Amino acid sequence: MMDHSEAETPNIAYKKFTFEDNNENTQESLSVSIPEVLDPHYGMYVWPCAVVLAQYLWSQRQELRDKTVLEVILSDNAEKPLCLENCRRSCAANGLHDISVLPLTWGEVSPELTQLPQLDIILGSDVFYEPRDFEDVLLTIAYLLRKNPRAQFWTTYQERSADWSIEVLLNRWKMSCVDVDLETFDADKSELAGSSLPGNHSIDMIIITLETGDLGL
Ligand SMILES: C[S@@+](CC[C@H](N)C(=O)[O-])C[C@H]1O[C@@H](n2cnc3c(N)ncnc32)[C@H](O)[C@@H]1O
Repeated sequence: MMDHSEAETPNIAYKKFTFEDNNENTQESLSVSIPEVLDPHYGMYVWPCAVVLAQYLWSQRQELRDKTVLEVILSDNAEKPLCLENCRRSCAANGLHDISVLPLTWGEVSPELTQLPQLDIILGSDVFYEPRDFEDVLLTIAYLLRKNPRAQFWTTYQERSADWSIEVLLNRWKMSCVDVDLETFDADKSELAGSSLPGNHSIDMIIITLETGDLGL
């Protein structure tokens, strides 16, 4: 549960997101509280892409029940301990006590990465925002997919420049990707989960997998 004395400290503000079912016959909903800390580091804030990815998870919740979704925390390792701390705070605020928060630096195969259990789905929101990092991000994903050949990488990115592309890198690492139309999961809106974060940003959702030839399918 959220520590209310903490919630009142000036540097931490909790953002609440409520995902609801559009079906009038069901009343399902899920509220998530995310702490944001006043800090110059990007990892301390919720980005528009995160709400869109979360909406996709919400839309897939039945299929996800039996899957292993490992929360790979995309944070710059020991250089950003505050970011990992905020991820732990975020889990605690939502009553999630069994989640491991691990450091991860894109492009580095750390001991933590080699010891991860089997996984089905890898999530990454707004990790393609700095072209010089694209190769490192994809190297990490390629490593995880080769260890888990049937796993998928679900990711959202914000179109910040029409010139950016990951196609060449995907080919190099023998991975392919499909677009998931935002309309198909009710995310083509400027307001999602009660939040106006998506606004009029141009956000895309893609699923990256190993090329099926590599799986012998
Ligand atoms: C634009 S923010 C997105 C944060 C969050 N995923 C979201 O969508 O709200 C980018 C994230 O990438 C992380 N990051 C930047 N460079 C990184 C690197 N070399 N290795 C791992 N993570 C990195 C930052 O720490 C930050 O958390």
